[in-house]
Amino acid sequence: MLRRLHKDQPAAFAFTPANLAWARGQISKYPEGRQASAIIPLLWRAQEQEGWLSRPAIEHVADMLGMAYIRALEVATFYFMFQLQPVGSVAHVQICGTTSCMICGAEDLVAVAKELIAKTPHTLSADGKFSWEEVECMGACANAPMAQIGKDYYEDLTPEKLRELIGRFSRGEVPVPGPQNGRYASEPAGGLTSLREFEPGRKQYNASVQAAVDLADTVKRIDGTEVPLTTPWLGSSLGKPAAVTPASGRPAEPKPGAGAVADATGATVQEAKASSRGKPASDGNAPNATPLATPQAKASGQAGGIRPASLAAPRDGKADDLKLIVGIGPKLEALCNRLGFFHFDQIANWTEAEVAWVDENLEGFKGRVTRDKWVVQARILAAGGSVAEAEAAAKA
Ligand code: FES
Repeated sequence: MLRRLHKDQPAAFAFTPANLAWARGQISKYPEGRQASAIIPLLWRAQEQEGWLSRPAIEHVADMLGMAYIRALEVATFYFMFQLQPVGSVAHVQICGTTSCMICGAEDLVAVAKELIAKTPHTLSADGKFSWEEVECMGACANAPMAQIGKDYYEDLTPEKLRELIGRFSRGEVPVPGPQNGRYASEPAGGLTSLREFEPGRKQYNASVQAAVDLADTVKRIDGTEVPLTTPWLGSSLGKPAAVTPASGRPAEPKPGAGAVADATGATVQEAKASSRGKPASDGNAPNATPLATPQAKASGQAGGIRPASLAAPRDGKADDLKLIVGIGPKLEALCNRLGFFHFDQIANWTEAEVAWVDENLEGFKGRVTRDKWVVQARILAAGGSVAEAEAAAKA
């Protein structure tokens, strides 16, 4: 099966604030340097938010995790749980066409999809509500033929049943998933032949169907407004909306001449300056209240660190070439600029607490300030020293 990026792509992607908080919580599960392990949950959440995975969404997630775009693309294009083109606003129907399902009538189900949704897979229905595709075995072979609709399995299907299901979804209903022929789970269709008693106290539905009914998110989009706190190890503050990210999905771009510019966490430069002078942040959501902390910051009692003073634009319109600092490449330089850091002397004056804050807020590059000794290097470069001297100091 060819899995390619859609020919029409949106200009940008950004997580909703609550989904961004959720995503950061997922990333925090993994030790430093292993953030790429969060790729699947983050791609999934991006898809839940938008319905499908666009190239900007994949690249946005790659940036958050410090991954090369091609690595994130490899994941997104490998698993057919990820939709690479727009899907129906109500549901995307994935019909299993592998052996068991094929023998039990999958081709008749495909015919229904072609008739009711669209003649070709990955094509929106006329009303935009549905799309469909044929997929490989989804592991429910004992209940063949089956289809995944939204996030749940509908099993033991017949063409009539699938027709009825699509009609009910179209009317805004969410039919109970699982076997559609009266079976509880995958017991013999004619009834139990051994161990003839179901276990006492069983629930109304089998475990996966019961979970689906309880969660009730079969075809619901997750925009973050109802995101439960799924990162209890980070404390309750992540339950609040996190940093406001502009439509580009990037931290706010400093605008030349702007008196106060929002930083990546939504705080203004003035607030940052106040906090860098040791004043408590007035808002519990302000960056200094962020519960995340590097091991170094924790060790020094600077949990979360302090945001350094930043600039809305480079002085005299000319930024220093931060790439002269060993360890800073084009991406990190751009990230520093977006955070309001343009000059060697800014970095040279960071305190330990400010280093801790920057280390924690370099999305995808956490810990680089400490690891590569930016402050030591910046002091040498700010004083007119050479790159070689700065490099030598970093290695010392
Ligand atoms: S063959 Fe269809 S679920 Fe396995």
